[in-house]
Amino acid sequence: MIIPPEPPYKQPQQRPGVTGRGRGIACCRDRRSDMMAADFTGKALDAVLRHSTSLPEGTPQVRGYDFNQGVDYNALLQSYYTSGFQATNFGKAVHEINAMIEKKLEPQSPDEEKEEHPINLNPCQRERTGCTIFLGYTSNMISSGIRESIRYLVQHNMVDVLVTTAGGVEEDLIKCLAPTYLGDFNLKGRELRPNGINRIGNLLVPNNNYCQFEDWLMPILDQMVLEQNTEGVKWTPSKMIARLGKEINNPDSVYYWAQKNNIPVFSPALTDGSLGDMIYFHSYKNPGLVLDIVEDIRRLNLQAVLAKRSGMIILGGGLIKHHIANANLMRNGADFAVYVNTAQEFDGSDAGARPDEAVSWGKIRMDAHPVKVHADASLVFPLLVAQTFAQKIGVLATEKKQD
Ligand SMILES: NC(=O)c1ccc[n+]([C@@H]2O[C@H](COP(=O)([O-])OP(=O)(O)OC[C@H]3O[C@@H](n4cnc5c(N)ncnc54)[C@H](O)[C@@H]3O)[C@@H](O)[C@H]2O)c1
Repeated sequence: MIIPPEPPYKQPQQRPGVTGRGRGIACCRDRRSDMMAADFTGKALDAVLRHSTSLPEGTPQVRGYDFNQGVDYNALLQSYYTSGFQATNFGKAVHEINAMIEKKLEPQSPDEEKEEHPINLNPCQRERTGCTIFLGYTSNMISSGIRESIRYLVQHNMVDVLVTTAGGVEEDLIKCLAPTYLGDFNLKGRELRPNGINRIGNLLVPNNNYCQFEDWLMPILDQMVLEQNTEGVKWTPSKMIARLGKEINNPDSVYYWAQKNNIPVFSPALTDGSLGDMIYFHSYKNPGLVLDIVEDIRRLNLQAVLAKRSGMIILGGGLIKHHIANANLMRNGADFAVYVNTAQEFDGSDAGARPDEAVSWGKIRMDAHPVKVHADASLVFPLLVAQTFAQKIGVLATEKKQD
């Protein structure tokens, strides 16, 4: 029990000019109000200066980076863990991704190495590791410079399954044909439109880029229709993306490396972008192309079902977030999860749902330690890669497959 100290104003000063009887009445009133004040302040002090119980041993203390150490980016990023707020969530995300990598690198037991699945159970033909890492990202990540961080991971075969939306496929291919430029969030649509300039946040994509994309894509679509009709090829979005990655034949491309390394790319809404526009126009010139999303859902879900352990790294929300989480439901939940997004949960959106909501659905395991970093991925993801995958390049990167 805290004993309140004497309030400092217990003895009010005599007001000048107040004397005699009048002063006596004032004095009584003052004494009463003093007692009441003591009562109030005692309660207030009790509330304010409440004693604490001890925090559990080992509870980290808050401490940020000391620039007297000089500018040491590695130490700076390590200090995030004890800095609080989203910096701490960043630090937790680093731990979570490093835990995925550690499991991925764990040698398989001789029994597991011998374990062979019939070919149709692993249509993606990815070799199983100690942890299958699913990476999902919204289209704008590929429009931005996050594309280069993703390409690095795919080039070095560090992740196992990609999920993105249509723009996340086409923007990568288009960038191989013509660049995306920096602009400004404030550029006016009515001024850009007559000039054929499209805006994505503070990025600009000239419409000519899409014209070049059409010229490049149409003959490939013709060829796909031909192979479907003459060789019985059953196209799915993931098979189409692998084909486009092969055709673009450019090491700047995420999907060039994905097909080279046998990393499947799932995009069940592949028509919701410029690719859909092209497929639509093409369907009048040369009808008949079929993309089977049923075969792809089997391919995706099997990657989760067959995984020894699984980890999800999801940049942004919407389809890509749920598609990966839902695949992981097939194995009773992912073992590891990192979300980086700006969405909030108050509206009940899946985009904003924290990992704990996915635990309730069985999409993340109950004993997992998932992390959500509430932040723009363009700021956070390259730093996450720097503190995790890029540190393990020597042991993690596997040789690329030949064509
Ligand atoms: N460049 C493009 O963005 C582009 C291009 C062509 C087509 N499209 C189409 O638009 C549709 C919607 O795009 P989408 O589903 O990829 O995602 P989206 O742009 O609708 O974003 C979904 C959610 O992800 C989160 N998010 C997005 N960017 C983020 C960031 N930088 N950092 C943190 N969180 C972020 C936000 O919460 C957002 O509400 C898709 O069908 C896509 O194919 C997009």
